[in-house]
Amino acid sequence: MKNYLTLLIFSVLVFSCGPRERVSKEVFDEVNKTMEVKRVTDAEITQEAMIWGDSITTLAQKNLISNLQKAIEEGGLVYAIQFCNENASELTDVLDPSEGVIIKRVSTKNRNPLNVPDEDEAQILDAYAYNSEQGLESEPNIQKIENGEVLLYTKAIIFPGGLCQNCHGDPDSELSPDVLNEIKNRYPQDQAFGFKTGDLRGMWSVKMPKKSIVNRL
Ligand code: HEC
Repeated sequence: MKNYLTLLIFSVLVFSCGPRERVSKEVFDEVNKTMEVKRVTDAEITQEAMIWGDSITTLAQKNLISNLQKAIEEGGLVYAIQFCNENASELTDVLDPSEGVIIKRVSTKNRNPLNVPDEDEAQILDAYAYNSEQGLESEPNIQKIENGEVLLYTKAIIFPGGLCQNCHGDPDSELSPDVLNEIKNRYPQDQAFGFKTGDLRGMWSVKMPKKSIVNRL
């Protein structure tokens, strides 16, 4: 809308000033800039958001797993729990603060109360949960939020079992007593246990300002 307005003002300027009036270079540059912005379509923005969200979450996931493995090797599982608790930075490390992107892992069976989905996230997580119950795969998704100023990228996190079971598996048979104890102490409201391989564990949520996406195009 703003682009059209600028164009309109531009046209009024051009046509109302008579043939001898020159349009300043600044006005020209401004119009050229808005024209460039206008040429970026919604579909291109959505596509770029998908590519960017995929790459951010893939990097964050790698970062998280390699640091988790390192922590377990260095100090064992109980030490690694403290490490998970104190190091949310593995996620934000992959971001450039100037781009204003927010990354989270959310779950309805969460360990950290900060990882409860908000309203926008809950709707998509519900759909992922439905798919999971029906045995269907969930694709990554892009949703416009905050009046279209922000795009929300989401991707289901399917529980892989293995290493993860030590801290999110069956509390009776898969979690050791000291792991259970440490988790209960740090997270009295913990619900993130009892997962089996293939269950929906939660989802990645990446909120990207539309402006930052357009800057990448
Ligand atoms: C050493 C124990 C440990 C292991 C192993 C572990 N986690 Fe976690 N996990 C935690 C802790 C502790 C938190 C809470 C972190 C925080 O405070 O943000 C957590 C949080 C999460 C969350 C965020 C949602 C929530 O429940 O708060 C997801 C998703 C998750 N883990 C998935 C996994 C997956 C997948 C694996 C295997 C790759 C894994 N975890 C391995 C301890 C562990």
